[in-house]
Amino acid sequence: MQVIHSVDEMHRISEKLRSEGRTIGLVPTMGSLHQGHLSLVDLVKDRADTIILSIFINPTQFAPGEDLEKYPRDLDRDLNLCKDRKVDIVFVPESKNIYLEGHSTSVIEERFSSGFCGLSRPSHFQGVTTVCAKLFNICCPNIVVFGQKDAQQVLVLKQMIKDLNFPIEIIIGDIFREDDGLAMSSRNAYLTREQRKDALFLFQSLQEGKNLLENGIFEIERIEDKMRELINKGKLLNLEYLKIVNRTL
Ligand code: PAJ
Repeated sequence: MQVIHSVDEMHRISEKLRSEGRTIGLVPTMGSLHQGHLSLVDLVKDRADTIILSIFINPTQFAPGEDLEKYPRDLDRDLNLCKDRKVDIVFVPESKNIYLEGHSTSVIEERFSSGFCGLSRPSHFQGVTTVCAKLFNICCPNIVVFGQKDAQQVLVLKQMIKDLNFPIEIIIGDIFREDDGLAMSSRNAYLTREQRKDALFLFQSLQEGKNLLENGIFEIERIEDKMRELINKGKLLNLEYLKIVNRTL
């Protein structure tokens, strides 16, 4: 397994691989890897000759006051996990080489970025689209893999790939969960025991919504109310939004 820090070297390697006719699969991450990330590696394994996993805590998708400084980092552990999972190349660029001094260009997706998480994090998706466009240009993937856990991110990136004519296939991986149902997330490491307990109401609320729909209840507001009721049982939870939407918005 190669670990590449230099942007230029990564670009050279990926262009060479493509010129040799090899298929590149890219899994973009911010590190602190868990089984959810690794399940994305497995998804692309059979379809790519070379798997690149990028680890980059992208500063432009964090607003001032968010958790950029304390975002969990453990590169040695991440590299061991990648090696075990047979990743071919881990790309770990430095921020100053991704965002060169004086940079003044970014990528903005305007349709799917604006609501939901875009309301409380207005510059977040612009940071995500910008860094992903850069990673696509540097790593030249034929296939990229993202997780359905970040459903809005998936819609935004699908739209960007289409709008900007990236010749890339996008694959979406299912949500990987802990045994008790909580979606795996690098940020789960922040949770205290009590918060971790309350976080389960999120999963229970989703299950409740699914059950109601499967039992033929289609009054969306009634379902949302039931789901909210469950979330409100978590005394430490502070619900920002809950909305049932059509997958394509
Ligand atoms: P990060 O949160 O590290 O997630 C990297 C990828 O793993 C994303 O596609 C995310 O949806 C997926 N993922 C996270 N938890 C998952 C789970 N429990 N099951 C399945 N997939 C999961 O998302 C980002 O980083 C960044 O925004 C990034 C796209 C890398 C751009 O900086």
